[in-house]
Amino acid sequence: MFYFRAVERFKKKMQAKTLVESSTMTSLAKPQVPGQVKHYLQFADLTREEYEYLLKRSAWLKAKFKSYETWHPLHDRTLAMIFEKHSTRTRLSFEAGIHQLGGHAVYLNTRDTQLGRGEPVEDAAQVISRMTDIIMIRTFGQEIVERFAANSRVPVINGLTNEYHPCQVLADVFTFVEARGPIQGKTVAWVGDANNMAYTWIQAAECLDFQLRFSAPPGYQLDPARLGKNAAKHLTICADPIDACKDADLVTTDVWTSMGYEAENSSRMSAFQDWMVDEDLMAVAKPDALFMHCLPAHRGEEVSAGVIDGPQSIVWEEAENRLHVQKALMEYLLCGRLG
Ligand code: CP
Ligand code: NVA
Repeated sequence: MFYFRAVERFKKKMQAKTLVESSTMTSLAKPQVPGQVKHYLQFADLTREEYEYLLKRSAWLKAKFKSYETWHPLHDRTLAMIFEKHSTRTRLSFEAGIHQLGGHAVYLNTRDTQLGRGEPVEDAAQVISRMTDIIMIRTFGQEIVERFAANSRVPVINGLTNEYHPCQVLADVFTFVEARGPIQGKTVAWVGDANNMAYTWIQAAECLDFQLRFSAPPGYQLDPARLGKNAAKHLTICADPIDACKDADLVTTDVWTSMGYEAENSSRMSAFQDWMVDEDLMAVAKPDALFMHCLPAHRGEEVSAGVIDGPQSIVWEEAENRLHVQKALMEYLLCGRLG
């Protein structure tokens, strides 16, 4: 008799355990409705209110990660990562990020896929989006990610194009907010090329209501056709980088030659000589100003070793935060608001 009761108790215990385990192993992702899928192709694709949610959610996910707590809302979901350019941070943060959310990643280098042999982007999007749940692309022209997204049944994330790098600026904003509080009303100085990062910062300034000061050498200025009608409200163009950095809360820069522009390297090297973020530039910013760089960096070119390795630099936190914000982004695109 005692034996049978013990067996029953054991069976019930096992049943309860199985229920608990299976509930933590259920994906919270909502079914995607073709035509209504939310993509993240540029910073302006989300509203300020959505960013407020994402920043809070990133902090929550970061705290969970730091305390080794399991959180698998994307159990069994697959992320396709398509790379047409090199990457360290983007690949690793997306791959680790989807794994930590309970899913897994497939790395596709265009050189090894049929995309590299001329398969139309539209056809690739149809096929890849029928086999996976979310897609990240790093490529050249913005129009490539746009054509891909237009033919995808699942969310597409821009992992860098010639025009924009929204995941990086999302991480940068999160890093600033974590260290200094709200970015609204603050001043960010951009010293360097009118590249994908600069245009993304411009969108962020407009969306999150802060000031962006931009300084680049003659011949490497912003294209007025790419700036919105109201750009002047949040953007000041400074001929001298000293003016851009005066009393800034954050000074940021990037390589003088982005991927895809290597043929211009020698002319850029001479044109940008006076646009290095060094100790003299940091000295005119606010005493507690931060320095950021999306990395990889070239010490002695766009930034001095003293600045990037100095006390105002927050570049390693900035790099780590790619992981946390992209987890929040993938969770949001697939599950909507949680918590
Ligand atoms: N900042 C950034 O996107 O780095 P990777 O090129 O290494 O991905
Ligand atoms: N502007 C740089 C960023 C690299 C992360 C590039 O496009 O190469």
